[in-house]
Amino acid sequence: MKTVFVLNGPNLNMLGKREPSIYGDKTLDDIAADCVKVGTELGLTVDFRQSNHEGHLVDWIQEAGELAAGVVINAGAYTHTSIAIHDAIRGVAPLPVVEVHLSNIHAREPFRHVSRIAPHAVGMICGFGPLGYTLALQALAARI
Ligand code: DQA
Repeated sequence: MKTVFVLNGPNLNMLGKREPSIYGDKTLDDIAADCVKVGTELGLTVDFRQSNHEGHLVDWIQEAGELAAGVVINAGAYTHTSIAIHDAIRGVAPLPVVEVHLSNIHAREPFRHVSRIAPHAVGMICGFGPLGYTLALQALAARI
């Protein structure tokens, strides 16, 4: 089975407690379990990770370039700021990357409307809550 990395950035470890009116009640462990289940149905091994540290995300994108067939990434707030993550994704091209956000970043504060990941992603799914992760896995499976 091909392996895909599902990478999560800062504060996503707080899901379930964090602003549930925006991010919902599910925990990151719940989302990880959904991803593993759907990944198995799609013939993919899901390696699901979270870090609050930008450099870990850079390291994992580089690792994905060696080991994985694709990446789903919710980089949290680093989406809007991180040139390092932008460069890491460019550096592993043509590895397919799908960007996901729980909330509709375009319906929120203007600073969330910019994504440094989107220019190098296959596509972006946002606004559908945890469902976005499994939609992203389906999109990735179709691509690889
Ligand atoms: C988020 C949106 C980001 O703007 C925010 O900083 C997050 C979560 C989302 O999944 O909706 O941490 O990536």
